[in-house]
Amino acid sequence: YGSLAGLVQRNPRFSKFNDDDVRYFEGILGSKNVVQDEDRLVTSNTDWMHKYKGSSKLLLQPRTTDEVAQILKYCNSRCLAVVPQGGNTGLVGGSVPVFDEVSGILVCEAGCILENIISFLDNEGSVEMFQLMLVVCVLSAMDPFMEIYLNGIQLKGGTIFILKDQKHQNFSIYVMLGASQSIFSFASALFILKQAFDCPTGVEAVLANGTVLDMLKTLRKDNTGYDLKHLFIGSEGSLGIVTKVSILTPPKLSAVNKLLQEAKRKLGEILSAFEFLDSQSMNLVLNHLEGARNPIPTSLHNFYVLIETTGSDESSDKQKLEAFLLGSMENELISDGVLAQDINQASSFWLLREGIPEALMRAGAVYKYDLSIPLEHMYSLVEEMRSRLGNTANVVGYGHLGDSNLHLNVSTPHYDDKILSQIEPFVYEWTSKHRGSISAEHGIGLMKANKIYYSKSRKTVQLMASIKNLMDPNHILNPYKVLPQSLTS
Ligand code: MLT
Ligand code: ZN
Repeated sequence: YGSLAGLVQRNPRFSKFNDDDVRYFEGILGSKNVVQDEDRLVTSNTDWMHKYKGSSKLLLQPRTTDEVAQILKYCNSRCLAVVPQGGNTGLVGGSVPVFDEVSGILVCEAGCILENIISFLDNEGSVEMFQLMLVVCVLSAMDPFMEIYLNGIQLKGGTIFILKDQKHQNFSIYVMLGASQSIFSFASALFILKQAFDCPTGVEAVLANGTVLDMLKTLRKDNTGYDLKHLFIGSEGSLGIVTKVSILTPPKLSAVNKLLQEAKRKLGEILSAFEFLDSQSMNLVLNHLEGARNPIPTSLHNFYVLIETTGSDESSDKQKLEAFLLGSMENELISDGVLAQDINQASSFWLLREGIPEALMRAGAVYKYDLSIPLEHMYSLVEEMRSRLGNTANVVGYGHLGDSNLHLNVSTPHYDDKILSQIEPFVYEWTSKHRGSISAEHGIGLMKANKIYYSKSRKTVQLMASIKNLMDPNHILNPYKVLPQSLTS
């Protein structure tokens, strides 16, 4: 053992805990979760490599976010130093994962053992295990020495991403290391640099002062201000304690996203775009853009999907796309489809999707909304908006279906405050109610600075403001943007 005391000097600013403190903790956690027993403390004071030994005399075992929050608030007020520790001490207990079948997002609390998560997902049968099953344990923000058990093998490390390759029945392990956030694949004891896979979509964290930040957004895209979850990833517990994470797992095929899942399954990594437009968008483009032509002119369909692949082997990529198209028609996932035969035809397909914003501009006034909404609810908003506005406006829906990103646009001959009052705040309230984001990719800017609360909690926005004050104390950078004016003036 090397003693940690040999490496660092104890900071005299920190208080030492006393009997009153212990009583306080027992009041919150019950005496069995307030550990002073020397033997039991040894494990927690020893790191996995058995290289260092700490000298903490008190181990607290909270089971809920609220308990973590109460402890931190108290320790902060008493200036008691805290070392967050995960898996090996069961800091927050083996907790039950929560899984949303439709979005395919799993929320797991700190303390989840990977093996349990895998069997949970297996038993649920909720996960379509095509290609890769993504299971993530992200506790490292609180504990760099957490334990992960995988098929009986115990692993240790930073944030560990485990990808189960169903076809080959093996696992790739991606380790996210420290602040650099590099992701490495661990294969046969070799570290190979791999492309970054999905990060957690959200985290819940408790700050040193006990504030609980709910950033458990289960969205792929959310561009409403600073992406604070990244502050906690790799922070090793130095900025807060991560108590929950949400991660993306491929969901079981459902009617809504079957085509998308089929595309992912059949086209795999060459799938580079999965865009959609409704018939109203198609009509706009056909009416307002020169050269726009419907490649499936037989009749107007309710929805169109534009799929692009980008690969290195043209003939095999084409074969895959053809097979996907035929298969989707046979399975009646689509009623018709056409494959671009050359680059010119491909551009003419893209014009139908990319030309929509331009066509909207030419059609008159336009109210634009860029929203992330869970896939199964996405188009209901367009329909509700249509019935709200009746024939006073042309409501169109298009966007990046692969990212659950809807561009809801309302086209009217002229700007009209009466129409605006029927759209807003309804559109923001609706999005917030469905835990979506009011800006998936276009940002907050000036326009939505005071609307940020529809997507972020007050506490999260407050933290954003503190970071802004720290890095730009005179607020000279892009003033009036992103943050509500009440916090920056
Ligand atoms: C697009 O995807 O076409 C743009 O992000 C949306 C827009 O300009 O409306
Ligand atoms: Zn877009």
